[in-house]
Amino acid sequence: MALDLDQQARDILRKNDRGGFTVPTARLYPYQWNWDSAFVALGFATFDRERAWRELELLLDGQWTNGMIPHILFRRDDPDYFPGPSVWQTSGGALPSGGISQPPVLASVILELVQSGNAEDLQKAGSMFDAVLNWHRWFHHDRTPDGCPVVCTVHPWETGRDNCPDWELGLDAMQVDPALEPYTRMDTVHADEAERPSALQYDKYITIVKFGRDVGWDQKRLTNEGPFLMADPGIHFILMRADRDLLELADRLGRHDARAELRDFIAKGQEGTAYFWNENLQAFCARDVRSGVFSEGFSNASALPFYADAGTDKQREGTLRNMKRIAEKVGYMVPSWDPDAVHFEPQRYWCGPVWPQMNNIISKGLAEQRETEMANVVRRDLARLIEKSGFFECFNTMTGEGCIGTDFSWTAAMWLAWASPNLEN
Ligand code: SER
Repeated sequence: MALDLDQQARDILRKNDRGGFTVPTARLYPYQWNWDSAFVALGFATFDRERAWRELELLLDGQWTNGMIPHILFRRDDPDYFPGPSVWQTSGGALPSGGISQPPVLASVILELVQSGNAEDLQKAGSMFDAVLNWHRWFHHDRTPDGCPVVCTVHPWETGRDNCPDWELGLDAMQVDPALEPYTRMDTVHADEAERPSALQYDKYITIVKFGRDVGWDQKRLTNEGPFLMADPGIHFILMRADRDLLELADRLGRHDARAELRDFIAKGQEGTAYFWNENLQAFCARDVRSGVFSEGFSNASALPFYADAGTDKQREGTLRNMKRIAEKVGYMVPSWDPDAVHFEPQRYWCGPVWPQMNNIISKGLAEQRETEMANVVRRDLARLIEKSGFFECFNTMTGEGCIGTDFSWTAAMWLAWASPNLEN
């Protein structure tokens, strides 16, 4: 059966290929998404390395002159998706795009390709190094509000964890813009409403987009003055890891000129980790920056300190204790939201379902830090989910049923690169 699934996974990646870049799934997400593409490259690399690098090259085609790599690249207008290029109205780079970014896994993916590759892979990595460094600079400068010790986020979509209850604090603190023009959502045409964000959440998401548009996508203003400002442990830990991985790439490439700057970024990440520690929950949690209030639930981003090699022994113990508590309540690890917290819904997007790419980086970090037992649970559970339900976007954490998008690219990629039992042979 695993061999069949390997073949199905390769077929999905081929089917979702739009000529050098991959859509996450047909119709629901008809463009190139930032972190999706990075994870997808790991899947392609298991059978077509050229194509893996092509995916990343096309992602970099959308980089803005200020260094930001946007969360979506709109190569053509597609009526299947809202909000498309006419809503975002950006002009920061060579392609129409979203005006925000997404978790920066790219450097870590490039390092993985280099580690498993040869001189040609190192050369490709060298050709991307400056672009990725400029993106990290953008996070550290443009997404760090004045006077704040950590990189923050201005839109739930930027975190990749769209409607996680973590963001309710920031969304509650803002108003829907009364001048918002009427719009028609397309996601609920393609997917079950019970698995997608609410109407009020969408109004707020679009309000933030309108603010960005109104300030001409001035990223410093969006960060300092925008309607939503939260700090995300997901972006924090992923960026910390990516800064380290970029430093390793700098060493391998002989780019000594970049070392001091990357070391400063890493030191900032290490110092900033304490900002996310919620003593009450004994976990790293999202935080509303303006009020300082913590989110009170353990999300799958709370499980990432191992991946970033961050936090004290006590903080790591607290994190693992929370994971063990949650494992007793759910059918499959790691739920995107805490089953003991308000707003938990096992089937609704980021309010509970298990996400393949998150399991990958959580488990990778746990394995590196010799937390082998939990690392194995997290990997085995994703394999069980795919074997039971197929290549869905995400999975109901209680029942294991697939949710939302079908024939999903990153699920196929995570199977091929990491979860397939064939990899153990
Ligand atoms: N994930 C978002 C959506 O659902 C956008 O990044 O459209």
